[in-house]
Amino acid sequence: MAKKPPLSISHAGFHVFDMAHMVDFFTTVYGFHIIDHGPYEETEEITFLSTDPSDHHQLVLYSGRTNTGDEVHYNHISFRADSFARLRTIHSSLKDYPGVTRISTIVHGNAWSVYCFDPEGNRTEAFIDTPWHVAQPFGIPFELSLSDEEIYAWTEELLKDNQTVLPFDEWRQSRAKEWGLLSN
Ligand SMILES: [Fe+2]
Repeated sequence: MAKKPPLSISHAGFHVFDMAHMVDFFTTVYGFHIIDHGPYEETEEITFLSTDPSDHHQLVLYSGRTNTGDEVHYNHISFRADSFARLRTIHSSLKDYPGVTRISTIVHGNAWSVYCFDPEGNRTEAFIDTPWHVAQPFGIPFELSLSDEEIYAWTEELLKDNQTVLPFDEWRQSRAKEWGLLSN
C-alpha cells in the first residue's frame, strides 16, 4: 500500500460574474453542497462547495469577476466521478442546463470524460478512471450512451496497439516506488 502522496488537489477557486447562477449550476449539475456562504472583503461574496465530507470545500466561488476580455487565465476544473451512471446523470443535466455549451465526451485512455463550458464560459470536466495508464496527451470522442461493458470493450480495442498502455495499478505502484512512497 502506498503512503499518502506529498500533494493532492484539494480545491479550486475562481471569480464569477453571477454568484447565484453559478452556485445553481454546480449544485444542480454536479451535486455540490453549499457548505458556507458569506461576505468577503466588504464588497464581494464567497461560497464554499463540496461533495466530500473530508474536504470543507472542493470549489470556492468569489463574486466580482471583472475580466471580460480574452485573456487566458483558466483552462478547466475537473471532478472525479464514482461511476458511469453518475457521468450519464451529469451529461444529461448539462444538456438540460441553460447556457451550457460545447458538451463533449472524450476518452483519454486513462479517463472517460465529459466536458462542457459552464454558463459563464469556464471549461469544466467530470471523469471516471479507466483501469489503464496511457501516456498523455490522448483524446478521442466516445459514445456515453453505450452500456458500461460496450464502452469498456470499445476502449480496450481502441488501445490495443498503444505501446504506452499499462494496468493503472501497476503504473501507480511503480510511480510510488520511484518516488519513495511505498510504506513498509
Ligand atoms: Fe482534465
